[in-house]
Amino acid sequence: MPQTLVKPGSPRSAVVTGAGRGIGRAVAAELVSRGYEVVVTDVDAAAAERTAAEIGARLGMALDVTDPTANRAAAERAQELAPLGAWVCNAGVAFDGDLTALSADQVRLMVDVNVLGVMWGVRAATDAFRHQAGLGIKGGEIGVLASLSAHAPVPGLSVYAATKAAVLSLVTSLASELRADRIRVHAVCPDGVATAMVDGFDVQGGAREALAAGVMLTPEKVARELVGMFGTARVYKTLPVWRGVLGRTASLSPASSQHADQLMRRIGAHRLKKAGLR
Ligand SMILES: NC(=O)c1ccc[n+]([C@@H]2O[C@H](COP(=O)([O-])OP(=O)(O)OC[C@H]3O[C@@H](n4cnc5c(N)ncnc54)[C@H](O)[C@@H]3O)[C@@H](O)[C@H]2O)c1
Repeated sequence: MPQTLVKPGSPRSAVVTGAGRGIGRAVAAELVSRGYEVVVTDVDAAAAERTAAEIGARLGMALDVTDPTANRAAAERAQELAPLGAWVCNAGVAFDGDLTALSADQVRLMVDVNVLGVMWGVRAATDAFRHQAGLGIKGGEIGVLASLSAHAPVPGLSVYAATKAAVLSLVTSLASELRADRIRVHAVCPDGVATAMVDGFDVQGGAREALAAGVMLTPEKVARELVGMFGTARVYKTLPVWRGVLGRTASLSPASSQHADQLMRRIGAHRLKKAGLR
């Protein structure tokens, strides 16, 4: 039985973005099991409402994270249920392909959702936490879905990886900026996770090879690890840890890591073939 993160008699609400499916849904379910009054949000309103009903959340509602005002409205809606205790920036989009192969709209959407969407969400949550602090309810938890791709070169997924590196950078600075407010900021950097996002990648492409060479995690495992950091000073965690160490080591010498990348691609291509996907 997971340990509750909410004190008896002091209910707290939590907002999860992009929670209509995938990792966000698993994070929302984990927060329900940890005692929060959860608001499931997604740009797909029907998915948010359906998921909320299925996992026992308090509410499902539309939220496009690229809209700063809508982020604030979601925070206010959550505060109507209980003081805001946690906000998880999970919504993300990924298009695989080299920078030059993507359309301008695809590039813009990845930056809009994956980077700006996190900034608008953190600002909405922080304003809510600060307002509550004025009423005597101090602090709050912010969780962010970064990615292992934030740590190392990922050819074939360069724009997505750049957005995740930006988000990880943001989180490490925010952890200090918001410390005085007792707002803790945590990011998780998972390797591949079995969701619709990965299923959407071209099975013949380099991104699928990179993922097949790595470790495929479950959304539930990622959710447990992210929420497990709540209430602690831990700022980020890579999953699995050894892949993070490899990635950071490779990024120290991008020129020589290109050879290792070629090897990983061959391993990935072999695994895809063995699985009958090629
Ligand atoms: N799947 C992976 O391998 C993996 C690995 C590392 C990190 N991540 C990150 O985890 C997060 C969740 O990924 P997932 O695999 O569950 O993806 P997914 O595609 O299965 O789900 C993403 C959800 O975000 C929603 N969404 C998209 N644009 C939105 C917007 N503008 N506003 C609000 N919601 C929006 C979608 O409707 C969808 O429900 C993303 O940030 C992703 O980058 C995924």
